[in-house]
Amino acid sequence: MTTLPTTEGTPAPTGSDPFLSVRDLHVRFSTEDGIVKAVDGLSFNLERGQTLGIVGESGSGKSVTNLAVLGLHNPKSTSISGEIRLDGQELTGAREKTLEKLRGNKMAMIFQDALTALSPYYTVGRQIAEPFMKHTGASKREGRQRAIEMLTKVGIPQPSLRVDDYPHQFSGGMRQRAMIAMALVCNPELLIADEPTTALDVTVQAQILDLLKDLQQEFGSAIILITHDLGVVADTADDLLVMYAGRAVERGSVKEILTQPQHPYTWGLLSSMPRLSSDVDEALYPIPGSPPSLLNPPSGCAFNPRCAFPAEVSGGLCTEQRPTLPDGRAAACHLSTEQRQTFFTEQIKPRLG
Ligand SMILES: Nc1ncnc2c1ncn2[C@@H]1O[C@H](COP(=O)(O)OP(=O)(O)O)[C@@H](O)[C@H]1O
Ligand SMILES: [Mg+2]
Repeated sequence: MTTLPTTEGTPAPTGSDPFLSVRDLHVRFSTEDGIVKAVDGLSFNLERGQTLGIVGESGSGKSVTNLAVLGLHNPKSTSISGEIRLDGQELTGAREKTLEKLRGNKMAMIFQDALTALSPYYTVGRQIAEPFMKHTGASKREGRQRAIEMLTKVGIPQPSLRVDDYPHQFSGGMRQRAMIAMALVCNPELLIADEPTTALDVTVQAQILDLLKDLQQEFGSAIILITHDLGVVADTADDLLVMYAGRAVERGSVKEILTQPQHPYTWGLLSSMPRLSSDVDEALYPIPGSPPSLLNPPSGCAFNPRCAFPAEVSGGLCTEQRPTLPDGRAAACHLSTEQRQTFFTEQIKPRLG
């Protein structure tokens, strides 16, 4: 069993904290219908130069977690507790002024949809230059120069002409690149990419992921890559956090999770995912049911209503007691290690081909 840099309770290298450390994070929204527990006790670490993939179906709390890291939730309707430390600095409860200094500078986010993230009214170049000018005090001319440099970096052809284009003059893939340029313009040490390739076709998707890897090599940034698609993280991330209903259900290195997944939910994600080396008539196994309401989540393990294995656990534990996620390479599940080994080998692995 390997010890991972992104694990709860793993001792940090002597004399230094993890670069990003999230501890027992809770994010709750007050709504007309009640309190939505969107993130419910989440912990993870991330080191510089590393990529953490966060995977899980839609609604599992991936975006809410990362918006909390960036301090982008509306304080009026959101209650946040727990610890978020970036490079030793506590971010939960930090003043808006402090967060503003960090956002777009030390930490930046690439959103899923470039079309809504970019303003239609300003040129691409101006939008890339703006955070640079704001955080470095650079002049307009220097900002424009920097925008051209960034457009070159992300592979936009004829950057000194395209810098004056408006977003609608760019293709979808180019807009996504422009947004990456905007996120990276101040060389952020933490980059959060929220489903950065979901709207793109497979070829452009691969190019964007390569680009992120190259830029990480150049800047040594820490990256959080959020996706509902395990295929996306397979080649890009070092470690994975699998989220379900606002909690982490499994964590490990990408290799461990793809070859020896331990949680029935992860088994479900893998079995429902098309494989690259697939036969034409290969069957997929969708996870039955849908994610639970976060207003009133199921008791015990939140995954129990969709899980095939609660009957294997004695004492009705799965419906009564919430499994915890132990430190290190682990899964939050009441099945014993031996049971998981057996069920995975006999029932799940044959499906994965
Ligand atoms: N501002 C909000 N108010 C109320 N509920 C919200 C708000 N933002 C997100 N949610 C809910 O929180 C849950 C997690 O959302 P999100 O983090 O966006 O999921 P995803 O894993 O798809 O990124 C969802 O059930 C979503 O409906
Ligand atoms: Mg999301």
